[in-house]
Amino acid sequence: MDWIYAIIIYPIIFIFPAYVANGAPVIFGKGAKPITKGKFRGKPILGAHKTRRGLVAGLIAGAIMAILESLVPGFGFMLAIGIAESVGTHVGDLLGSFIKRQSGVKEGQPIPFLDQYPFLVFALFFALPFALPSYFPSIYGVIFLFVLTWVMHRLTNIGAHKLSIKEVPW
Ligand code: CTP
Ligand code: MG
Repeated sequence: MDWIYAIIIYPIIFIFPAYVANGAPVIFGKGAKPITKGKFRGKPILGAHKTRRGLVAGLIAGAIMAILESLVPGFGFMLAIGIAESVGTHVGDLLGSFIKRQSGVKEGQPIPFLDQYPFLVFALFFALPFALPSYFPSIYGVIFLFVLTWVMHRLTNIGAHKLSIKEVPW
């Protein structure tokens, strides 16, 4: 059953700080001040849904998760990886919103892939220098994380909508 650990359990442990960094803003960012109100080429830079409080809460929550995981014996390496992931998560998330705004897409309007994956790709990329050569998940683990992230995005958005945290279920 080693493969279940390698392809499913370890990748989840590995990416968990990024998930926490990505999810915390939904709870803490409601009604907060946008990071930027400016425009670029006549369009909002990031839009009203990317808030300072959401960003700070995401970074802190991701870092706390990294600290907690690193306290588990044998997982000390997750401290640097988890903090790097939290930063990568938000770089990717803001970049995704920037691309959406430049394409004329309104805040919260769903765009498949662009809503789900920039944070994951950037989290993995930022973690890379701290995770190589031995802590990065295998290619199958990474593929699993892409599938899991798709499913989690659907489920958490439906859940957040039901709990009235989010206006729309996507
Ligand atoms: N959020 C925030 N600050 C951030 C990121 C997210 O406050 N830096 C909060 C906002 O309330 C946002 C919610 O988390 O509505 C969900 O985030 P996300 O799905 O990334 O934003 P969208 O509402 O889809 O906006 P966009 O179109 O810019 O992706
Ligand atoms: Mg969204």
